[in-house]
Amino acid sequence: MTQEHTSRLPGFYKRSLAERAAIIGQWGNLTPEEQAALLGVSGLNAAQADHMIENVVGVYALPLGIATNFLINGKDYLVPMVIEEPSVVAALGNAARLFREGGGFTASSDEPVMIGQIQVLDLADVYVAAGAVMAQRDRLMAEADKVSSSIVRYGGGARDIQVRPIVDTPVGPMLIVHLLMDTRDAMGANTINTALEHIAPLIEQATGGRANLRILSNLADHRRARAEGMIPKAQLATDRLSGEDAVQAIVEAGVFAEVDPYRAATHNKGIMNGVDAVVIATGNDWRAIEAGAHAYAARGGRYTSLTQWWQDDEGNLRGFIELPMAVGTVGGATRVHPAAGVALKILGVQSARELAEVCAAVGLAQNLAAMRALATEGIQRGHMRLHARQIAVAAGAPTHLINRVVQAMITENNIRLERAREIVQELNK
Ligand code: MEV
Repeated sequence: MTQEHTSRLPGFYKRSLAERAAIIGQWGNLTPEEQAALLGVSGLNAAQADHMIENVVGVYALPLGIATNFLINGKDYLVPMVIEEPSVVAALGNAARLFREGGGFTASSDEPVMIGQIQVLDLADVYVAAGAVMAQRDRLMAEADKVSSSIVRYGGGARDIQVRPIVDTPVGPMLIVHLLMDTRDAMGANTINTALEHIAPLIEQATGGRANLRILSNLADHRRARAEGMIPKAQLATDRLSGEDAVQAIVEAGVFAEVDPYRAATHNKGIMNGVDAVVIATGNDWRAIEAGAHAYAARGGRYTSLTQWWQDDEGNLRGFIELPMAVGTVGGATRVHPAAGVALKILGVQSARELAEVCAAVGLAQNLAAMRALATEGIQRGHMRLHARQIAVAAGAPTHLINRVVQAMITENNIRLERAREIVQELNK
């Protein structure tokens, strides 16, 4: 099944957990230890967790699923996703299959340049201070490189110094200095924060001011990823809608999010369902990605959609996404959390940029999945079956009875915990 190394795996969802794990093990060339980390047999234990954060008393597990069918820039990917919400993984694989029919995704990304900020106060004249900083530009960049030797060795390092005077604030004028730094395959938080703390005293000397905050910006808009894809209209036809009508309904849904912040919040949340799941699976900081995405969505002064959807000249559906994507394949938890390393291996990405491009394609596909459901049959039908499954499990249904409990609740249109418990009791008799 995986011999030709295609991510198109029809019926993957029907396989048993053990079969799926075996297929992924073969796909990712996983060692027995790596397989065990995925299955939770080994994986992150409390002793390892104790080295990650403070006051550890245990670990908290989440499901790790695989989204199939991804074809990005001509390469096949199986995408590991960590998420508690039902439907997301299945919907993503379906959406990726539709894009595959249109040739897959075209994705690209910027150089991995992070922004660090230094807030300078107590200045006689912010514009004079800005000039003084720019006069020291080369020295400041050289000093930033000095404390980032490993990043520089890998081809990264300081790329620019920029100044942003903000004259009118409740605490008086301030000069914001930006250090732009290429952090290569790291997310780069530590690198940039170290460099900022190192150069801040030089900026104080040059300006006569006082450096207050020295911290990266999560609006990493020099480090964007984008993806585009097409779905042939025939693929979108349903029992009740022609392909053309479905394309139109999806385009209308996309425009709704472009013009209305209330819809954009939900629309973008759906995008982040997919993006976050990959970001978490690979051990990256999903709060940073969330912050960047939403700030980017508000960059024009009004919060809007992260995607655009339109009908092309042939009547097919096309979508585009662009968002900041500060993810790494080294550093942070990417290699500390045993399952994160395995997720990266399954993905087979060679760089942080490639990971960012996969995340962008995932965001676009997840968005399509939600809009397609919303603009055609509504999302509740599919959700109810999965919801019923969770209720059945919560009611204590043994594995061999889960499907029967689910079916009974759906037939009765009565999906409640008490009813699930009664059905379990009846079936157990
Ligand atoms: C649910 O987690 C996500 C959706 O609400 C996204 C959307 O409305 O586009 C379905």
